[in-house]
Amino acid sequence: MLELNTLRGQVETHLNKLLPAQSSIAQPMLDAMRHAVLGGGKRMRPMFACASCEAFGGDLQAALVSGCALEFIHSYSLIHDDLPAMDDDDIRHGQPSTHIAFGEANAILAGDSLHSLAFQAVVDSDELVDASKLRIIQLLSDAAGWAGMAGGQCLDIEAEGRELNLTELKALHAAKTGALIRASLQIGAFSATPTPEPPRYQALSDAGDLIGLAFQIMDDVLDVTQSTEVLGKPAGSDEAQNKNTFPKLMGLEASKTEAERLLSEANERLYANDLATPALLELLTQAVRRRF
Ligand code: IPE
Ligand code: IPE
Ligand code: MG
Ligand code: MG
Ligand code: MG
Repeated sequence: MLELNTLRGQVETHLNKLLPAQSSIAQPMLDAMRHAVLGGGKRMRPMFACASCEAFGGDLQAALVSGCALEFIHSYSLIHDDLPAMDDDDIRHGQPSTHIAFGEANAILAGDSLHSLAFQAVVDSDELVDASKLRIIQLLSDAAGWAGMAGGQCLDIEAEGRELNLTELKALHAAKTGALIRASLQIGAFSATPTPEPPRYQALSDAGDLIGLAFQIMDDVLDVTQSTEVLGKPAGSDEAQNKNTFPKLMGLEASKTEAERLLSEANERLYANDLATPALLELLTQAVRRRF
């Protein structure tokens, strides 16, 4: 059985190993990449991938690489998310955001390079079979791109100051955050095997959708209820940027209730499909019942 604190340590070690440290041409950009990735974070997406790989009977070493790829995409999205042109947030993980520490140009470029590094890590892995690599690359690119994270970020920015309805807000959250979280679980399965059993894989993907939405709902709740100190990023950022959020649309209590309902539904999918491992159950719960 996976022990989650041990696993988090293994993720840290792998991230450190996969990140380049020295460059004769681009040292400030590399320093910015390392600051963004190694400066903190819950490592939820790699841990999801590892737990899902375990549930599909796979070897942890394979999932650690694909988990790091997910974290590189995630870290890149956070660097760009904090830029003045986007959320204009100066603090991340309790430290200066990457553009504050290294300048906007290096922050943008560090994001660009982390995006590429994600795919390089998968392609170069000795632990993944080629058929799995291809599916992982497909899942990563779908989740990161125009119909996933980047597309959701576009709508998030474009809709500042105009009120989305509940259906539109769910679609926004599903794209900007849900897509990469669902992909974390899916990529874990494909790290275990190039041919995960369809019904269990479908259930896992559905649980990913449910928990992805619950995760962003709670992110929006915590933005209102927690301090900057606890969050490690500026509290009240959503209000300051006039964002569309669940608390704004339906209130704090109804938002928390909805997140709990989504968590229960996700757990049911796991139980009904022989996926309810201790690690997956615990990680899903942590994704919703967290303080930061
Ligand atoms: C924050 O994600 C950005 C969202 C998608 C809401 P996390 O809360 O997973 O970020 P870290 O990596 O743990 O800081
Ligand atoms: C960000 O959502 C989603 C990303 C794709 C990075 P937020 O803008 O709410 O994330 P935080 O609160 O800054 O971490
Ligand atoms: Mg944002
Ligand atoms: Mg933000
Ligand atoms: Mg937020």
